[in-house]
Parts: sequence; structure tokens; C-alpha cells
Amino acid sequence: MGHTSALEQRYRARQARGWLRRALEPPAPFVMNPREPTDFPLGRWNLYIGGAGRAVPGYVNLDLFPMPGVDIAADAEQLPFAGGVFQRVECDAVLEHVRDAARVAAELRRVLAPGGYLHLVTPFCHPFHEYPKDYRRFTLDGLKQLAGDLEVVAEGWRTGPTATLLVVGIEYVKGLLPWRWWRGGVHFALGWLLFPLRYLDLPLLKTPRAGRIGNHCYLWLRKAA
Ligand SMILES: C[S@@+](CC[C@H](N)C(=O)[O-])C[C@H]1O[C@@H](n2cnc3c(N)ncnc32)[C@H](O)[C@@H]1O
Repeated sequence: MGHTSALEQRYRARQARGWLRRALEPPAPFVMNPREPTDFPLGRWNLYIGGAGRAVPGYVNLDLFPMPGVDIAADAEQLPFAGGVFQRVECDAVLEHVRDAARVAAELRRVLAPGGYLHLVTPFCHPFHEYPKDYRRFTLDGLKQLAGDLEVVAEGWRTGPTATLLVVGIEYVKGLLPWRWWRGGVHFALGWLLFPLRYLDLPLLKTPRAGRIGNHCYLWLRKAA
């Protein structure tokens, strides 16, 4: 089965979930760091990388695959745009899936307008997940190596150590079970039982220790005007 159809199947299965399944779905096992800035200005043209299956109003949505929500199907290693076009570029949970992260980062820097902002988010301690491949993980220092001559204007952890423990723990228990139905049961049961622990990350994310086993880290970068 090709990558497109595997991802398409995953997307359509999500769309087709009945109301009961949606009502029973446990809350996410993580909270977002409220101190991560989100208010850097949008411009006339903004670029969202990897938004297959979702609407991203205000952005040109580019993904490898021509799925619902995608405006342009292309490889981020070779962006089909002139340089200096986009005021804001979002690249959230994509760099671990590309073959050459340095090359993608160079492309993102190229298409960013002078004075524009680039937002990079990547997993550090997180289970294997293929979209359509999963090549690597990043520390904040590793992510900064991709910044080139852009200025780092904000950095930190989006999701913290408790998120790591919960997603890895649930995945571990699922891994022990041979049957799909049992794994589904664990997803619901442990999801509901454990999700209140996610709030432990709110104080933890304020400490420098959050990054030792943090879940996802972020950088906001700015191109000189
Ligand atoms: C984990 S998902 C991103 C999720 C998205 N940021 C969100 O929050 O919903 C990764 C996405 O990156 C896309 N992708 C992977 N490699 C890519 C590449 N080389 N160029 C463009 N998109 C890519 C995948 O098709 C997938 O839709």
C-alpha cells in the first residue's frame, strides 16, 4: 500500500468515527505550555507545512499528499515558491518526518520574508509515529542548529515530562497486548484514568528540568528585516 493511501485511510477512518466513539474519546494526555507565545504577526501570505486533513485559515497549507485541506502538494525539501514571500511559517511536528531536516530548514528560511517569523515544533521524548516515515527526535540545541542566521526570539517546551510519561506509558501497555480490541480498550480506559495527571506539567514546565524528558520543544525564529 502506498504512503498516500495509508494516510488517506487514517484520515477517513478519523472522519468516519461515530458519535459514540467521539463522545468516549479520552482527553489528550498532555497540556500545552501556556507560556509558549502564539501571537507573532501574520502577513498577507503565510505558510503552514504538513496540514493534511485540517483547515488552516490564513495560511497556504502545503503537504506531501493532496489530502483534504491541502492547497499545494509538494515536498518541503524543495518548496515551489520564490524567496522572501511568507511573513509567518509554521512547521509543527514535521521535521522528524522529512528525510533531510537541514535541507527543509534551509527552504523554510529561504521563503521567509524579511522581518518574518518561523515557528518550529518537534518531539524529543515521544513514541514512534510514521507520517509517512519517522526519522529522528530533537533537543532544543539540535533544533537551534537549524536556525541558520535567524534570530531566536523564543524557545521552550510545549509539552512536558508528564506528557512523555503518559504517552509512553500508554503505548507500552498497548504493546503488551496482542489484540487490537484490547489495545483500543486500554486507549480508552488508561486515557480517562490518567489524563488528570497531565496538569502536573503546568508547574514542571516552569522549571529548567522540564527539558530532561520533555515531550515537544519549540523555537520562534525571526529573519532580519
Ligand atoms: C505529524 S503530521 C503534522 C501535524 C500537523 N502539524 C498538525 O498539528 O495537525 C506530519 C505531516 O507532515 C507531512 N509531511 C511529511 N513529510 C513531508 C515533506 N517532506 N514535505 C511536506 N510535508 C510532509 C505529513 O504528510 C503529515 O501530514
